[in-house]
Amino acid sequence: MRVVRRSDELRLLLEERRRKGLTVGLVPTMGALHAGHLSLVRRARHLSDVVVVSVFVNPKQFGEGEDFEHYPRDSEGDLELLRGERTDIAFLPSVENMYPPGATVEVTAGPIGDVYEGADRPGHFNGVCTVVAKLFNIVEPDLAVFGQKDAQQAAVMKRLVKDLDFAIDLVVAPIVRESDGLALSSRNVYLTAEQRNQALALSRSLELGRDAYTQSGDCQLTEKTMLQYLQDAEGVDVSYAGVVDPDSFDAPQPSGRILLIVAGRVGKTRLIDNLVVEAADGGGG
Ligand code: PAJ
Repeated sequence: MRVVRRSDELRLLLEERRRKGLTVGLVPTMGALHAGHLSLVRRARHLSDVVVVSVFVNPKQFGEGEDFEHYPRDSEGDLELLRGERTDIAFLPSVENMYPPGATVEVTAGPIGDVYEGADRPGHFNGVCTVVAKLFNIVEPDLAVFGQKDAQQAAVMKRLVKDLDFAIDLVVAPIVRESDGLALSSRNVYLTAEQRNQALALSRSLELGRDAYTQSGDCQLTEKTMLQYLQDAEGVDVSYAGVVDPDSFDAPQPSGRILLIVAGRVGKTRLIDNLVVEAADGGGG
C-alpha cells in the first residue's frame, strides 16, 4: 500500500495506473476507521482495480462549536486496517494541501443541504460537497463508494455527481450495525457504556417507525411514533425524526420507497441513523 500525502504525487501515481487501463475506485473517509468504513473499501476492492481511500478530517464541514478539534484521529491504526483490506493507495493530505491559502471557491449543495442534517448543521453539506468535488478532481475515479449510514450525504452526493457532470459511478453501501442494532460510527468512541446503551433508542425508534408504517401506511403517524419514542427515551436529546423521499429529502412520493431518519444527542455526542422502507411494505394494515 502506498501512503500519499500530496495531491500532485497522487495524480502522478494514478496517471500511471490509468495508462495501463486500470479502473480506480475511491472511498472518501475522515478516518477513525471501523467495520462500516471497511465494508466500503471491500466494495471498492470488488468493483475496481485500484482502490484509493482518502483519510481527511475536513475542517470545512464542521460548524462552530462542533468537534473538529477533538474528532478521533488514529492514522497509524487506520493505515493498518487499510493494509488488511488490500487498499492500493491511502491518501492522507494535510489541511494546507487541500485548502492552500487564498482558496475562495466552494461548492454548495442547494435546498437538499438545508433540511434535517443541514438545518442542524448550517454549511455542513457545502463543506462535504467542496471536499468531495476536490477529491473527485484529484483522483478522477471511475467509481466512488459512500455509506447509507449518512443517507442525506449520499443523496447530496448523487446530486453533486449529476449536477456537476462528474463521470463517476456512485455506489451506496448498506449500514453496518453492531449486533444490538447500533449503527457503527466514528463518534461512538465518545460514548460511555451507559450512553452507548441509551443510543440504542435511535435504531429502536426506526424499527418502531417501520412497524407503524407497515401497519398504517401513514407517514405522519410513522413520524409521530418515532418522535414520541425518542422524546421518552432516557438520555436522548432528539434533533429530528422524519419520513422523506430518499433521493430528494422532500415529502415522500405516494408510492415510492420511503426513508425514516432520526438524529439526536446522547450526552455531547450527536448521532444519526436511518432505515429504508420499501413501498411494498407500506399500507398493509
Ligand atoms: P466518515 O464519517 O468518515 O464516513 C466515511 C464513509 O463511511 C461515509 O460514506 C459514511 O456514510 C460511511 N460509513 C460510516 N459509518 C458507516 C456504517 N456504519 N455503515 C456503512 N457505512 C458507513 O462521511 C464522511 O466521513 C465525510 O463526510 C466525507 C464523505 C469523507 C467527506 O469529508
